[in-house]
Amino acid sequence: MKKHFLIAICALLLVSCGGRNESAPANPKVAANALKHYPIVDSLLRVMTLDEKIGQLVLYTSDWDVTGPSIRSGYVDDIRSGKCGNIFNAYTAAYTRQLQEIAVNETRLGIPLLFGYDVIHGFRTIFPINLGISASWDMPLIQESARIAAREAAAAGLHWTYSPMCDICVEPRWGRISEGAGEDAFLGSEVARAMVYGYQGGDLEDPLTIAACVKHFAAYGAPHAGRDYNTVDMSERWLREFYLPPYKAAVDAGAQTAMASFNEYDGTPATANRHLLTEILRDEWGFDGFVVSDYTGVMEMINHGTSRDLEDASIQALNAGNDMDMQSGGYSEFLAKAMKEGKVSKKTLDEAVRRVLTVKARLGLFEDPYRYCSPEREAAETKTEANLLAARTLAEESCVLLKNTHNLLPLDKNSTVAVIGPLADSADDLLASWRGAGQVEGIKSLLEGIREMAGGVVYAKGCDIENPGQAGFNQAEYAARSASTVIMVLGESCDWTGEAACRTSIQLPEVQKELLRRIAATGQPIVLVLLNGRPLDLSEESELADAILEAWYPGTMGGEAVARLLFGEASPSGRLSVTFPYNLGQVPIYHYAKNTGRPYVHKGVKYESRYLDCENEPLYPFGYGLTYTTFSYSKPELSAAEFGPMGSITAKATITNTGAKEGTEVVQLYIRDMVGSVTRPVKQLKGFERVTLAPGESRTVEFEITPELISFWRKDMTFGPEAGEFRAFIGPASDCTEFATFTYNE
Ligand code: NOJ
Repeated sequence: MKKHFLIAICALLLVSCGGRNESAPANPKVAANALKHYPIVDSLLRVMTLDEKIGQLVLYTSDWDVTGPSIRSGYVDDIRSGKCGNIFNAYTAAYTRQLQEIAVNETRLGIPLLFGYDVIHGFRTIFPINLGISASWDMPLIQESARIAAREAAAAGLHWTYSPMCDICVEPRWGRISEGAGEDAFLGSEVARAMVYGYQGGDLEDPLTIAACVKHFAAYGAPHAGRDYNTVDMSERWLREFYLPPYKAAVDAGAQTAMASFNEYDGTPATANRHLLTEILRDEWGFDGFVVSDYTGVMEMINHGTSRDLEDASIQALNAGNDMDMQSGGYSEFLAKAMKEGKVSKKTLDEAVRRVLTVKARLGLFEDPYRYCSPEREAAETKTEANLLAARTLAEESCVLLKNTHNLLPLDKNSTVAVIGPLADSADDLLASWRGAGQVEGIKSLLEGIREMAGGVVYAKGCDIENPGQAGFNQAEYAARSASTVIMVLGESCDWTGEAACRTSIQLPEVQKELLRRIAATGQPIVLVLLNGRPLDLSEESELADAILEAWYPGTMGGEAVARLLFGEASPSGRLSVTFPYNLGQVPIYHYAKNTGRPYVHKGVKYESRYLDCENEPLYPFGYGLTYTTFSYSKPELSAAEFGPMGSITAKATITNTGAKEGTEVVQLYIRDMVGSVTRPVKQLKGFERVTLAPGESRTVEFEITPELISFWRKDMTFGPEAGEFRAFIGPASDCTEFATFTYNE
């Protein structure tokens, strides 16, 4: 068959041209083949018809999973006719092989399909939601979780994950805050980088790695009023300083693809926003992978009101730099016509096709289109003991201990506990949204985890998650009275977070609050375990409960992990990656706020920036979290009082475990630039380190402060440092107060 001939020629060309090598990547962690040139791509481009080229820019969902509106069928025919070169939501070695065989054997050129999927916090072994993952502040373990997800996914035929989600968010109403790394650009960048390294490893051709996708580009996490898909508008300065860094970190780490977000930015939908997709992403950052739209993103430009019809939308999107059309069908239907009419140039089309084919080449698909479809590997890689152990450890590290009066936690294993609440026996909620191919069968709920650990357990559900019925309250109260400690498991249903899952309330449902009040009235000590995917208003709960453990949705091993924390087999070390306000009225609230012209410093003074009915400070600040021990900090010290463009200084503090148990502290560095050409945050996270200390043990933690670290988008929109005075704070959370002062000289 002709196509096999062609592929054979291309493969020969590939070998004879030594198409493997160009220059070594600057960052050794970036996949080595990311910079290679692939002659096979040139060869293909020379012989492809217009329709074949367009087919490579089309991405359709299979009917295995629905991750957006269901709008079309017939994807198998589209593959066969060369109209669709990429598929998502199809997995397993067997099924992807079946589809791949159609592309390879039944189309003229046999160009392999690319299989994508939302592997967001694990594929079969489900890790905690990403907001929880980020609360671990443990980059090696986060990277490991992505590596495991990649191995499991790659063995099931997948080449491409729509992750990491790099959307900074200060909006708890937005359901997708659960999918990101929280509010902070510095922490978010670290997480993004770790995830890309984890997915892509050092060699994309390695069949155990998959391509990452930076999403949702850009600023999707800032919809007005926290309503999904809503308008985003912010200054370019704010965008660059507080929103873009995690996307850029992922690109710098070698992410092969990027996804345009649903939202508009500065009046133009991201899908056709040339400023974002071409000027920033490609021209400034040097991104050389391809951009895919989000689900029907091209079509949605008609609703946005910037395109007359799908044809117009498709032309605008491709010309702006959006290479691949997910699910709209517009490229498929209209690009050939647009080319003939000169509305899209051959150069633009060829560039987009080249990018897609290059990613396929980098993944090694032209050498062996089936290298990812391995039933043996699929069986061997899935939910291995090591994978599950990593998931349990990350679940433990993601939990944040918010309160622990009189060291109520950890509990005595011999004690009898009452386990109460609508989420206590729900294994399903532990997996959260975007659970990949995770299955609930065989997963232990929190109740089951606790049962394996405690001397005795009495259980009462008490109420449903939201249904106002209180028929179970008496039994719950009875259970509470019959035990020495009460563990209440309250929170949100897992489908209240994720896509299209926004809420105008960040309180627990009234029935759960009422149940808590009722149990609190018994006077029994209460440990409140929370399962939720957004910062909640816990102002009342923080009064009623003696201890609070924020467990997010902790994943496959969540039941065991939470039980181990509660009974001291493991020790909490998570820190909030997002601020928990007193109430929704304080939102948006984040730790890098500016000082304003009237900062609130004089208690009770009227004309200062404050509320009449609430503190300015949040209930639980960014970076906050308790452990089962205590730590003291020495005053921060600097290696020198000043430095300049070619130098750096070190800020350090000595941390001592002053308690009786081993514990892990997340030591945090914040910096304040006292005077700038534009206003600067009162504090900005600029470094952190996890340190585990035995009782009585001390460790000095050092952070290097470089010109890069204190750089920002200056008045003239250049990026760099400015001379002047700075404060370096080192402490356990963003509300730390001890600092040392240094000067930067130009
Ligand atoms: C829409 C979501 O916004 C995006 O995150 C996801 O990757 C795609 N659907 C594909 O499922």
